[in-house]
Amino acid sequence: MPTTTSATDFVPPSLEIADLAAAAQGCRGCGLYEDATQAVFGAGVAPARMMFIGEQPGDSEDRAGKPFVGPAGRLLDKALAAAGIPREPVYVTNAVKHFKFVRAERGARRIHKTPSRTEVVACRPWLVAELTAVEPEVVVLLGATAAKSLLGSAFKLTAHRGEVLRLAPQDRPEGLDPQVVATIHPSAVLRGPHEARDDAFASLVDDLRSAAALLG
Ligand code: URA
Ligand code: SF4
Repeated sequence: MPTTTSATDFVPPSLEIADLAAAAQGCRGCGLYEDATQAVFGAGVAPARMMFIGEQPGDSEDRAGKPFVGPAGRLLDKALAAAGIPREPVYVTNAVKHFKFVRAERGARRIHKTPSRTEVVACRPWLVAELTAVEPEVVVLLGATAAKSLLGSAFKLTAHRGEVLRLAPQDRPEGLDPQVVATIHPSAVLRGPHEARDDAFASLVDDLRSAAALLG
């Protein structure tokens, strides 16, 4: 059986998020649909002035069918609130739409596994379709996976975090040139050493605040 490695053939020409989300359920652009419960598409209003992009749905998101509703989502909500950004009029999505995981040796626990470059690239047409529909003025990339999806595999988050960046013409829909800020993933705050969490959280809030300030 030929292996497909792109979502391109599954993305409909519609600019309605609901149409795109429905079509994503049938995506076979990479192998990740096989074990996940469902595709987790972006959520929020479209168009929206700000768009936030995470990595991939986690265990809770895979079950709920909505992005950022588990522990990382609660942390993101707290950080958005601290930065004065209401979650409602923004659009929130992920670089990869299906949950990638490994099963714990014992029990049913599903452990997050970072998507491969091939999977990230395969899923990018959905992200570009969302960018086209949402037409954001500011894009916030949460973590290295989202950053590398849109800024290229050589992008170094530690070197360019918080800077105001632009997407290369071939990586964005024609006519759209949002300002882009890359920052850490909310999970990085949760995973970090306990004594460093407050600082990590504050630095995430700082980046979100400067991203929001770009809206003027
Ligand atoms: N982590 C992400 O990157 N996205 C989610 O939706 C949940 C956790
Ligand atoms: Fe399609 Fe993306 Fe799911 Fe792969 S992860 S099957 S490319 S929606």
